[in-house]
Amino acid sequence: MKHERGPLRVALLGCGVVGTEVVRLLREQADDLAARVGTPLELAGIAVRRPDKVRAGVDRDLLTTDAQSLVTRDDVDIVVEVIGGIEPARTLMLGAMKTGKSVITANKALLAEDGATLFAAAREYGADLYYEASVAGAIPLLRPLRESLVGDHVHRVLGIVNGTTNYILDQMDTHGAGFNDALEEAQALGYAEADPTADVEGFDAAAKAAILAQLAFHTPVTAADVHREGITEVSAADVAGAKGMDCVVKLLAICERVPSADGRNGRGVSVRVYPAMIPRSHPLASVREAYNAVFVEAESAGSLMFYGAGAGGAPTASAILGDLVAVARNVAGGTPGPVEVTYAKLPVLPMGETVTRYYIQLDVADEAGVLATVAEEFAQHGVSIQAVRQVGLGEEAKLVVVTHRAPDAALSTTVEGLRGLDIVREVASVMRVEGEE
Ligand SMILES: NC(=O)c1ccc[n+]([C@@H]2O[C@H](COP(=O)([O-])OP(=O)(O)OC[C@H]3O[C@@H](n4cnc5c(N)ncnc54)[C@H](OP(=O)(O)O)[C@@H]3O)[C@@H](O)[C@H]2O)c1
Repeated sequence: MKHERGPLRVALLGCGVVGTEVVRLLREQADDLAARVGTPLELAGIAVRRPDKVRAGVDRDLLTTDAQSLVTRDDVDIVVEVIGGIEPARTLMLGAMKTGKSVITANKALLAEDGATLFAAAREYGADLYYEASVAGAIPLLRPLRESLVGDHVHRVLGIVNGTTNYILDQMDTHGAGFNDALEEAQALGYAEADPTADVEGFDAAAKAAILAQLAFHTPVTAADVHREGITEVSAADVAGAKGMDCVVKLLAICERVPSADGRNGRGVSVRVYPAMIPRSHPLASVREAYNAVFVEAESAGSLMFYGAGAGGAPTASAILGDLVAVARNVAGGTPGPVEVTYAKLPVLPMGETVTRYYIQLDVADEAGVLATVAEEFAQHGVSIQAVRQVGLGEEAKLVVVTHRAPDAALSTTVEGLRGLDIVREVASVMRVEGEE
């Protein structure tokens, strides 16, 4: 095949789980990629920490520990960053853009913490900055938000964006396992890291929620803006309680544009990550094991669902290769792709103002008047009850209350009030309810 220009040269930063798959795909699909771009893609160098480590299928002559020199080399056109973390990734990407290179990254942590600096550099130096792989692995989600839906009005993004926690919660639901047992199993199967903090405490999902909210609502959102609760406190009793309600517990990332009084303009955005019950009939309830799925609700498009593998070397590399072809076409054609515009400048609303529903399970004294006292506590805080029922009998009996939608602050002060009542022996379970009403 005849190509109109010389090869486009790619510098790869990092050659771990994702990077080795990028190398493999670049090699195995070289002819197809060249045909799709209109010119071959050639690896110019690969930056790693340990050059002596054995890496199957990777040309050792391409390895270097001097990432800084690699990204500024004149014979490099495009930089792919799969090192992860904040530094040196940020300095390397900025250095690449300053010297006219376009950048592709999978780095959710950096984008969520300091994406603004990277986007500003992309604008200033006319570079492309693509990051499809940073959220939900292989699932095409950012490009639809960034391009396909950019003419619509997105009002909600709701999804499961962390495979590790979904695997753990799925095991707890399917086998009645406790959190620690399910985590150990996830670690043994390679779904969870030795240090699982980023996943189980919700940091990973919060970074992705920030990226999604920023794209969906064209407004600046960082990881620090996201209300975050992980799954370490989810007990077997919570999961059993959810089952009793024909619900399942999922760690959800929720991004909402909260309308102003006139219903049209945004009053602000609510961005949050927490475990919540969703009805088993909800499509997200059927997302099992380590899969991811995201709902996008837009004014004209209606509801859209994206589903697939949210992590793993090959799925993530697929998203990177997609970006690489898009960026390579832009570079070859001399026309940069779209740059993020956060013109909306909507405030991120505090969690207390977020309107949600609670499921509360109470261990109460077995005596007359209990129901009225409990109902009075809800009424005092302006929280209306949707349903009350008793589960179990006699001393073992528990009272289950499900509320209508109310501000989160009112719901949490209600729970505090319940804890202070003499007739309440224990507030056994408190969980938000999403996906209906
Ligand atoms: N793994 C996934 O499923 C997945 C999914 C979506 C997104 N991501 C994102 O993709 C990125 C990479 O993840 P990964 O799982 O591939 O990580 P990884 O397996 O830990 O690989 C990291 C690579 O970066 C290299 N590296 C680390 N510090 C470096 C430095 N200072 N200079 C040069 N190279 C350095 C390491 O070199 P050595 O090999 O010599 O140690 C290694 O090759 C992260 O941003 C992650 O969040 C990963």
